[in-house]
Amino acid sequence: MRRLSRIHLFLSIFAISVAGVVAHAQECLDCHGNEDLDPLRPRLSIRADAFNQSVHGPLGCQTCHTDVRGFPHQDVHLPQCGNCHKNQEQNFEDSVHGKAVARGDNEAASCQSCHGSAHMVKAVRDVTSSVYPLNLPRTCGTCHGNADLAQRHGISVSNPYQLYMDSIHGRAISHSGLLVAANCSSCHGTHDIRTTSDRESKVSREKIPGTCGACHAGVASIYQTSTHGQKFQAGDSRAPVCIDCHTAHQISRVDTEAWKLEIVKECGSCHKQSLRTYRDTFHGQVTSLGFTVVARCSDCHGSHDILPPSDPRSSVAAGNRVKTCRKCHQQAGVSFAGFDPHADRRDKARNPGLYYTALVMNVLIVSVFAFFGLHTLLWLIRSALERRKQGGPAGD
Ligand code: HEC
Ligand code: HEC
Ligand code: HEC
Ligand code: HEC
Ligand code: HEC
Ligand code: HEC
Ligand code: HEC
Ligand code: HEC
Ligand code: HEC
Ligand code: HEC
Ligand code: HEC
Repeated sequence: MRRLSRIHLFLSIFAISVAGVVAHAQECLDCHGNEDLDPLRPRLSIRADAFNQSVHGPLGCQTCHTDVRGFPHQDVHLPQCGNCHKNQEQNFEDSVHGKAVARGDNEAASCQSCHGSAHMVKAVRDVTSSVYPLNLPRTCGTCHGNADLAQRHGISVSNPYQLYMDSIHGRAISHSGLLVAANCSSCHGTHDIRTTSDRESKVSREKIPGTCGACHAGVASIYQTSTHGQKFQAGDSRAPVCIDCHTAHQISRVDTEAWKLEIVKECGSCHKQSLRTYRDTFHGQVTSLGFTVVARCSDCHGSHDILPPSDPRSSVAAGNRVKTCRKCHQQAGVSFAGFDPHADRRDKARNPGLYYTALVMNVLIVSVFAFFGLHTLLWLIRSALERRKQGGPAGD
């Protein structure tokens, strides 16, 4: 048995030594398939089964290792993936990872970080591939789940992996195995991943509605017609895009209680005045206590179809208001709907009645306090004088 393999080995060396003769992978694996070929250089050992099952298995060894001719073979050059995968390499060179690798950053993703060693690469549609949609978040997460790495590289989102795994998209992937849910690459790209501030990035502010809209096409087309979408397309940088209301990595179902309350604050982060006046109303006070049964901003204004109240298509335009209130107040009539949900007692022009009522109430409150304050003060002075007149407290 042992003798046989010696002969085999000899033939292997003979085969690879003859220039022009391409050795069979097995002939290389006779040595390199050996787990302890060189205990000091474990990378010289290649798992034969993994190689044969890999997408590169059929290529044999010398298709890539063209300069290994003969034995011993020192000073061989290791092949570059880009020798055969030109497009991927070109895109990669322009990516944030490629630029970092070119700078000599050994923590950034190289071809092998995402695909594994050349000898184990799987087809991207293989369910065991590290870039198969269900496995990809974990692959990116080996680096982007590490807050220290983010800090070293000045990456603003320290652990997108964790945030993503708790999101509706992450759960759809990890719990339901839903291939069509968004994974890291659906939003960021693969070989062309760029930093957010790069206008070419799929997640630059300009591109976000299109990136989310690749899957949420219906929502995106409604959004385009809303006042927010229109302002955004006109270049108004204050107008919200998808992630201002939904976040990027923590996207949750829209029917959870937590999100229903959070969205009120999100609208309010831009519409400060409207939030303040809303908080003065019954609806606003109830939501500030943490209950969602009453009207929130989007119950009256809509979500992706928000229009100015002056637009007749708006859900809060004069002609549609009764219908909007009736979603919850079945008995609502025109006068009920006339109630101003943003009545501002400080705004004389908008709500004169409320303004003067509030003014009178304030004057009344101040006068009452002033009168009784003075009364109490005089009373205290008087009782102090009385006490002194009687010669100090009794019981001396
Ligand atoms: C007789 C055993 C043997 C056979 C057969 C053999 N190798 Fe090697 N190979 C080695 C040893 C030992 C080393 C380490 C050599 C050194 O560094 O001096 C090595 C090194 C290498 C390296 C790494 C070079 C480096 O410096 O990183 C490559 C690539 C390689 N072999 C490819 C092949 C290929 C391809 C074949 C088949 C065509 C093959 N080898 C056949 C024993 C063998
Ligand atoms: C698809 C191209 C390809 C094929 C096929 C291939 N290799 Fe490699 N090999 C590479 C690349 C690229 C590297 C550089 C490191 C890496 O990707 O793991 C490499 C590295 C190596 C190394 C050195 C490991 C190190 O890091 O120093 C050895 C030894 C080696 N290959 C042997 C083989 C043998 C033996 C076969 C056939 C059984 C083979 N290779 C088939 C592309 C290939
Ligand atoms: C940041 C992770 C990452 C890096 C780095 C990376 N890839 Fe990929 N690669 C992927 C993903 C994800 C896919 C699957 C794309 C899909 O599902 O269509 C892929 C697909 C591929 C494919 C299949 C064809 C295609 O384009 O879809 C090839 C070939 C490939 N990569 C080669 C490379 C090479 C060569 C490099 C280095 C220059 C590299 N990759 C670097 C993540 C990466
Ligand atoms: C000698 C040329 C050669 C080299 C070098 C090479 N590959 Fe490949 N690669 C191929 C061929 C041929 C295929 C199979 C045909 C195909 O699907 O494109 C393939 C397939 C792949 C696939 C699967 C593509 C798919 O559609 O599923 C990936 C991923 C891949 N290679 C990544 C790499 C990486 C990473 C490296 C470097 C470590 C590398 N390749 C080096 C030739 C090469
Ligand atoms: C091997 C570790 C590693 C892997 C795997 C990896 N990355 Fe990265 N990534 C980095 C490093 C390091 C940087 C910072 C590069 C720099 O300093 O410019 C980075 C940068 C980024 C950036 C830009 C961050 C910024 O602030 O500009 C994005 C986006 C990104 N990666 C997404 C991904 C996605 C998506 C995947 C998976 C498909 C992935 N990365 C896989 C290490 C990795
Ligand atoms: C639903 C789309 C989506 C998914 C899925 C997604 N991201 Fe992001 N990611 C974004 C957006 C949008 C931004 C920009 C955020 C911002 O501007 O606040 C971002 C920002 C980042 C950044 C910071 C980039 C910078 O320039 O500072 C990193 C790193 C990152 N994502 C990695 C990942 C990783 C890793 C995954 C998978 C685990 C992932 N993302 C999944 C949309 C997504
Ligand atoms: C101004 C804030 C805002 C913006 C901008 C926004 N959304 Fe929404 N989105 C909401 C609200 C509020 C709901 C919940 C609607 C409801 O309860 O009926 C929602 C619901 C959703 C839903 C669940 C389905 C549905 O319609 O109820 C999806 C999917 C969605 N949004 C995706 C997006 C995408 C994609 C974008 C960007 C094109 C986007 N959203 C922009 C506020 C916003
Ligand atoms: C690759 C396709 C894809 C992309 C890209 C994508 N999503 Fe999704 N999204 C889905 C799928 C599929 C679901 C449904 C998951 C489920 O129900 O388990 C979903 C669910 C959602 C939900 C929850 C809807 C509900 O009914 O409660 C929101 C909100 C959402 N996505 C917003 C976004 C935003 C914002 C972006 C861009 C930053 C985005 N999505 C990008 C596929 C995608
Ligand atoms: C990122 C900031 C931002 C967020 C978040 C936001 N908006 Fe807006 N909204 C704007 C801007 C900018 C305009 C255009 C206002 C203008 O031109 O005066 C606008 C316009 C409006 C208008 C029309 C006002 C008018 O008089 O024309 C309504 C109503 C509105 N938003 C409601 C909402 C609601 C409800 C939410 C939450 C679901 C929301 N907005 C979230 C920035 C935001
Ligand atoms: C009960 C229904 C209702 C709720 C809840 C509501 N609004 Fe309004 N909103 C209206 C109506 C009706 C108008 C038109 C007022 C008018 O001009 O007569 C309006 C007007 C607006 C305007 C235009 C400017 C203005 O003050 O007229 C903005 C912006 C706005 N709302 C934002 C919000 C935001 C943000 C929230 C949540 C914090 C919210 N709204 C909650 C019904 C509502
Ligand atoms: C999403 C459901 C919902 C919508 C839409 C809604 N409300 Fe309400 N509102 C409530 C609930 C629940 C209460 C608690 C008291 C009740 O049941 O009547 C309430 C209470 C009120 C109150 C104080 C209590 C009262 O009955 O006098 C006023 C005023 C009011 N709403 C006005 C409006 C107006 C005006 C509109 C339309 C512009 C509107 N609401 C739209 C759910 C809603």
